[in-house]
Amino acid sequence: MQDNEHKRLVEMIDGYKGKEGSLIQLLLDLQSEFNWISKDALQEISERLKIPPSRIYRIASFYEAISLKPIGKHKISVCMGTACQVRGSGMILDRTESKLKIKQGGTTPDMRFTLKRVNCLGCCAIGPVMVVDDDYHGRLTSDRVERIIKKYD
Ligand code: FES
Repeated sequence: MQDNEHKRLVEMIDGYKGKEGSLIQLLLDLQSEFNWISKDALQEISERLKIPPSRIYRIASFYEAISLKPIGKHKISVCMGTACQVRGSGMILDRTESKLKIKQGGTTPDMRFTLKRVNCLGCCAIGPVMVVDDDYHGRLTSDRVERIIKKYD
């Protein structure tokens, strides 16, 4: 962790001193600032707020919005729920994996994209569906996958 990052981390943690009940909010704030929460950050939280590391880890690993490993700048989720699978989401996932040269669950070496498969995103009528960051892309064909990814490149 660089000096300026460490300074920012400490500032953010200290802002929660006396508010130890707001640990989840702190973790979400750190996630949005750094895009993930490192072991060093967990340790720093533990020491500065006097919270056992095991408790912080338990909470951090429970919430899907919090990542304990580095993730890409853009998050791509391909829906593999039943309705999307029937409409060909398997091909969408294959095409995305081959375009990014990673498997689902992975992150590109340049840290631009993280890809994961998810279950129903709640918009089956427009399946197959892929979400990039907060943008929903529906009625996908594998040909559109490349164009969509390019927009975030
Ligand atoms: S199964 Fe894909 S959105 Fe519901």
